[in-house]
Amino acid sequence: MSKRAHVIVVGNEKGGTGKSTVSMHLIVSLLNRGLSVGSIDLDARQATLTRYVQNRQNRKDAAHLGLKVPNHVAVPPTTDREADERRLLETFGHLTALHDVVVIDTPGSDHYLSRLGHSFAQTLITPLNDSLVDLDVLARVEPETMRIVRPSHYAEMVWDTKKTRALRGEKAVVDWIVLRNRLAHLDARNKQVMEKLLVDLAKRIGFRTAPGLGERVIYRSLFLEGLTLLDLRHGIPGFDLNMSNVAARQELRALVESIGLDGLGSEPAED
Ligand SMILES: Nc1ncnc2c1ncn2[C@@H]1O[C@H](COP(=O)(O)OP(=O)(O)OP(=O)(O)O)[C@@H](O)[C@H]1O
Ligand SMILES: [Mg+2]
Repeated sequence: MSKRAHVIVVGNEKGGTGKSTVSMHLIVSLLNRGLSVGSIDLDARQATLTRYVQNRQNRKDAAHLGLKVPNHVAVPPTTDREADERRLLETFGHLTALHDVVVIDTPGSDHYLSRLGHSFAQTLITPLNDSLVDLDVLARVEPETMRIVRPSHYAEMVWDTKKTRALRGEKAVVDWIVLRNRLAHLDARNKQVMEKLLVDLAKRIGFRTAPGLGERVIYRSLFLEGLTLLDLRHGIPGFDLNMSNVAARQELRALVESIGLDGLGSEPAED
């Protein structure tokens, strides 16, 4: 009997919120737990995740360091929507039959492939920069009172994809996790406002929040090197495992734990 992978989609219609960075860190974290991981890049025009994986494969020391890579497939859009959707369904079917977990990275804009990708999610992770500008894709906030007026387009899209699942005869339940990213150490007032709004909104549109990720410059330098924070324990020249990086790894661990993949793999001592 073929197994069926747990499907994690990383999505947000706002660009630059950390979807590809979170996807890659999640993938490596799951691989390090001994899970087999397939990954799909649905933002294949920009192809950040695809290049991240390639950068990792191209490292001369990859084998020596024991860097694991996912079974990665990019699904770039063409002008033929039906053919594109068919290709995604085939890719998805193939990877879910082969692996324990499939992670799907999506573009920061509305697209039919992204919608179809979202409809596969058992877990949906939405990284959100810690600002009211980013909150706008989830909800309209009244500036005078700072109250939520109504859910906005991305929240509606997530709702629609649940209906798509139900139409396919699948369970419509999605565990939707909103992850605050790039949390600043200062700016306590903004933090509080965001916190309150997210608590209100979570109840209203049905998500939960995970412990956030702090703003850390190291994320930028890791991309070209094909590395994640989880690899730094190997003692890679130029990358110290300093206090900030250790704290960042703890934040990532908290994220993976909050997804709750109980029974799938076990946490390695070093992560
Ligand atoms: N916690 C963080 N601290 C510092 N920089 C971060 C953090 N998370 C992401 N970044 C940086 O923010 C930029 C955008 O991240 P990323 O490409 O992962 O976002 P994205 O949501 O995938 O963007 P897009 O919508 O364009 O696909 C990158 O330069 C990345 O290195
Ligand atoms: Mg991206």
